[in-house]
Amino acid sequence: MTDTAPRATFTRMDQSTKEDWDIIVGAVINHAHTQVYGNVMQQMETLRGDHGGFAVDRLTHCLQTAYLAEQDGKDDEYIVCALLHDIGDVLAPFNHPDIAAGILKPYVSEANHWMVQNHGTVQGYYYFHHLGMDRNKRDELKSHDYYEHCEEFCAKFDMPAFDPEMTAPPLSHYAPLLEAMFGPGGLASVDDVKGAVQK
Ligand SMILES: [Fe+2]
Ligand SMILES: [Fe+2]
Repeated sequence: MTDTAPRATFTRMDQSTKEDWDIIVGAVINHAHTQVYGNVMQQMETLRGDHGGFAVDRLTHCLQTAYLAEQDGKDDEYIVCALLHDIGDVLAPFNHPDIAAGILKPYVSEANHWMVQNHGTVQGYYYFHHLGMDRNKRDELKSHDYYEHCEEFCAKFDMPAFDPEMTAPPLSHYAPLLEAMFGPGGLASVDDVKGAVQK
């Protein structure tokens, strides 16, 4: 099927016009509202069956992390962060927190974004020493306003979520939360998007 939607006409960005950008912004927001939720769900599915040497597969770990947060009474935004915190495991195994942090940044608070972005280092306290690394590397972050927020996430939800005996809901249980964040209700207007991009 040929894409007949309007397109910008510039060939160099320095020659672009407001009319061009009206077309592009409309297309980007439409894409965000109609495609991102599905793309995120699809990417989460790639974690299914991938154990990476752990006792549970990566999707189960994410679901258990989200479920522990949910049971603790965390709000929907936090639960989505917990669910997606390792979505980058199969794309960027050596810096996976950056992937989740990048996806979530426009949609979540500064505190939750920092938590996701830094969970790898903070969680390292529980295992870096087994790899000949410094388990206290996270101490370099301790003076940050959101350190305790992240430390709690690791201690209560991320760290204990490797348990084959734990029952957690399926991914579909969290679909409405993901749809609310990434669908049309999330960043609904052009102004919402502008604010999110510039934060
Ligand atoms: Fe992680
Ligand atoms: Fe994790």
